[in-house]
Amino acid sequence: MRVVEPLRFTTVAEREKALEEAHFNLYSLRAEDVLIDLLTDSGTCAISREQMAAMMRGDESYAGSASFYRMESAVRDLFGFEHVIPVHQGRAAERLLFQVMTTPGQLLPSNTLFDTTRANALDYGVEAADLPVPEFLDFSSLDRFKGNIDCEALEALLRGPEAKRIPFVLVNITNNICADQPVSLENLRETSRIAHQYGRPLYLDACRFAQNAWLIQQYEAAEAGRSVRSIVKEIFDLADGCYISAKKDAMGQIGGFLAVREASVAQKLKERMLLAEGFVTYGGMTGRDMEAVAVGLYEGIGEEHLRCRVERTAYLHEQLRLAGVPVISPPGGHAVYLPAAKILPHLAANENPGHALAVELYREGGVRGTKIALTLANGEHVEMLRLAIPGRVYSTSHLDYAADCMRGVMLRAEQIQGFATVCAPPLLGGFMAQYRQLQEAACTV
Ligand code: F0G
Repeated sequence: MRVVEPLRFTTVAEREKALEEAHFNLYSLRAEDVLIDLLTDSGTCAISREQMAAMMRGDESYAGSASFYRMESAVRDLFGFEHVIPVHQGRAAERLLFQVMTTPGQLLPSNTLFDTTRANALDYGVEAADLPVPEFLDFSSLDRFKGNIDCEALEALLRGPEAKRIPFVLVNITNNICADQPVSLENLRETSRIAHQYGRPLYLDACRFAQNAWLIQQYEAAEAGRSVRSIVKEIFDLADGCYISAKKDAMGQIGGFLAVREASVAQKLKERMLLAEGFVTYGGMTGRDMEAVAVGLYEGIGEEHLRCRVERTAYLHEQLRLAGVPVISPPGGHAVYLPAAKILPHLAANENPGHALAVELYREGGVRGTKIALTLANGEHVEMLRLAIPGRVYSTSHLDYAADCMRGVMLRAEQIQGFATVCAPPLLGGFMAQYRQLQEAACTV
């Protein structure tokens, strides 16, 4: 079976109207008004014929679904964790993890929490201690593992006065907020050693585990020649548990799971998940979804697939670079990140420069990306435009078009105005914020 989704061209006037109706929030656009959608790789990959075939045998039993056991067996086989708790997507796993593993007032060290993790932590009264390596901020550094956690800083934290507030250590592979940079196996080994020396479990936020393992195979000299599968196994052997949004490297359209070694932790997670996700053998997923993930986990670590996936990202990165667009290097796995302050130096940090770039790119040619932002320990606010590539969907000519549009944006970069946030929910505000273009605001005063 082959399936195609039509592309729809819009005019500049149509895009202007769509932007206004969406209060300039690209998440509020109708997808049919987007030509090339680089908003996210989450749940947007094309499913394979093997996944589709497996979905046909989805067992929708409320309890004891055969589809759950197939997904559980894939997770045990690839990651080695005994206990698998299904959830409807990654952030549900985060919520459960905070409920079971933390108490309000605690401090969570990581290589930088993703937005949904941070929001769930805050909602549960847990503070984030982001410890990215300093190399991350050196956009000219071609170090391949700028997603690493700063092990010295982690050890200092676990030795210092704040230690008693730390419940566990979390590492995000790849490090999405830090421009999708991967984490090296050496860094994971050292993090595991430190966490365990100080009696803390290590958990992985591992939705892009396969891309991270591929980048280890390609660029970590000591691991060259190893299979992705054996690298994946070692990564998870170093941890006490993980959660995975199955919408990324597991090639699902929805779904996720927690996987842990300790029976007592699994029991508590299951008791909590009954309250909001559903029964322990489906956790908010349909049998069809669990079948797709059971197959997708293996497809996701396919080395031909990974080569194609990561090279495509590198291709967009290179096209942008050749067009004179500043890009964060090296490219990671699923997305290219553009440093907003370099492209729009005339905008202040509070004028939403990453968002302004995303809006201009949509205006230019109907290409949708998203702002990614992080605030460093020193208070510095870094904004990026992320162009995420859905798996197995776009060809290089689609990416050429996106790069061309970005080149068009660069030509008028100096005139691009910032945005004021009119209103936004206190947590995960970017998804639902409404914005006002600053130039217009100036005109009406
Ligand atoms: N962790 C990471 C690193 C993620 O990138 C995401 C989602 C989640 C957790 C939460 O998973 O969406 O299934 O609830 N990232 C999407 C993105 C939203 O666009 O990067 P979820």
